[in-house]
Amino acid sequence: MRQSSLVVVANRLPLDDSAARDGACEWRRSPGGLSGALHAILQQTPATWVGWDGEIGLSSRLPAIGSVRLRPVALTADEQAGYYEGFANSTLWPLYHDAVQQPVFQREWWETYRSVNQRFAEAAAEVAGKHAAVWVQDYHLQLVPRMLRELRPDLLIGFFMHVPFPPPELFMQLPRRVELLRGMLGADLVGFQREQAAHNLAQLAQKLLGADATDDAITIDGRTVRTGAFPVSIDVGEMRALATRPDVVAQVAQLRHDLGKSKRVLVSVDRLDYTKGIEHRLTAYRELLRDGDLKVGDTVLVQVAVPSRERVESYRGLRDRIEGEVGRINGEYGRVGEPAIHYLNQPFSRAQLAALYQTADVMVVTPLRDGMNLVAKEYVAAREDGTGALVLSEFAGAAAELSQAFLVNPHDVDDLKQTLLRALDASPEDLSTRMNAMRQHIAEHDILAWARAYLTELDHTGRLARRFFGRP
Ligand code: ADP
Ligand code: F6P
Repeated sequence: MRQSSLVVVANRLPLDDSAARDGACEWRRSPGGLSGALHAILQQTPATWVGWDGEIGLSSRLPAIGSVRLRPVALTADEQAGYYEGFANSTLWPLYHDAVQQPVFQREWWETYRSVNQRFAEAAAEVAGKHAAVWVQDYHLQLVPRMLRELRPDLLIGFFMHVPFPPPELFMQLPRRVELLRGMLGADLVGFQREQAAHNLAQLAQKLLGADATDDAITIDGRTVRTGAFPVSIDVGEMRALATRPDVVAQVAQLRHDLGKSKRVLVSVDRLDYTKGIEHRLTAYRELLRDGDLKVGDTVLVQVAVPSRERVESYRGLRDRIEGEVGRINGEYGRVGEPAIHYLNQPFSRAQLAALYQTADVMVVTPLRDGMNLVAKEYVAAREDGTGALVLSEFAGAAAELSQAFLVNPHDVDDLKQTLLRALDASPEDLSTRMNAMRQHIAEHDILAWARAYLTELDHTGRLARRFFGRP
């Protein structure tokens, strides 16, 4: 395979099953913030993407997608279980999300996580040209930066953590915490969504490694690793263009008609994940119906929950609980032809999502903890006419930027109920002031701005960012 001067290394290639089965050579985004974000910036870029081909097993004959070459990493069933379902999604994921679900530690997962990380590092080393920049993504691949540096000391290595990075008192629980820290500190630049995460890393590097550390630089093994916050974003232009497309405008009219023209529509869009706060949200909605604060005759909730990580135990139970609760709420408060909740457990196209966002009088984004939450930003981008209310969890990274949203503590069901009512009852003037401020922010901080900011910090000169993403 030819070598590239920019290599992205992420757990997944941005393909889904249908794209692979019929061999179609186009981007099909799997739901999830990471591939969505990188998809938006890499389409026109001569780069190589190293990643797991999911479960599609076509490793040897994947085509290039646009200008991006794909370098698949195949995983056996045991590796998927130990690395992806095990250490990444049963140990690190819950721990990094404030342990809202109990993390599971199984010793045998570690060796698989380590050896799969080594395989990703070797694949990246193989496709990276001399002095190339390699951008490693997320908690699945936390050991890769150091492994790659050992294989290829000539490379410029970036690491970006899309999920929260926890405070020392949580991170200290991790078996293998020293290896995990050393792994990510193999990078030249470690980027996070929020500044607090860089502060957490500095404290841990001092405590566990005795390193000299501030919130923006850590000195270890005679090298300085820079750190900082680079809040990820969305392709604002794409969402704005979709929002005004005639077929999407027609879909909005149809949805409005189907949901009931005079009704106030609440919408939530999540991967079916326990960090997203879906259960707390349903409890709040049920109580508002019970107390008569909301009535099915004039309000309706649309909850989209796309299946995710279904082989991980904690996700299976969650799906059953949510579906049970939706059934109970509809059974108790719905009427014939008029459910209290429309529950959709399926993937949507970008156009369908744009239509749904425009149908939402109130978008309810209430994760218990989230690295960023791109759905919140997509909603804002889709509101071309400046209407609509965003109810947003204080525990989503997006809250640091979208401060004009109706911010809420989703752990507090009473606060959740009051905030939903405030958003539903807000005046059009209040809503448009808030929405326009948020729209201006994301217009100035889109996904390209994120990539430019990160790569400019990575190589200090801005040359890398200009070469791959042009002038701002
Ligand atoms: P996470 O990375 O935890 O999944 P984000 O909110 O940051 O959370 O990103 C979710 C991404 O997945 C968004 O770009 C959103 O549009 C997309 N998405 C969510 N639900 C669906 C769905 N049902 N169909 C297609 N895409 C979805
Ligand atoms: O941002 C967190 C993340 O794990 C991303 O890496 C990914 O885009 C998304 O969640 C979806 O998760 P998965 O790849 O496990 O389906």
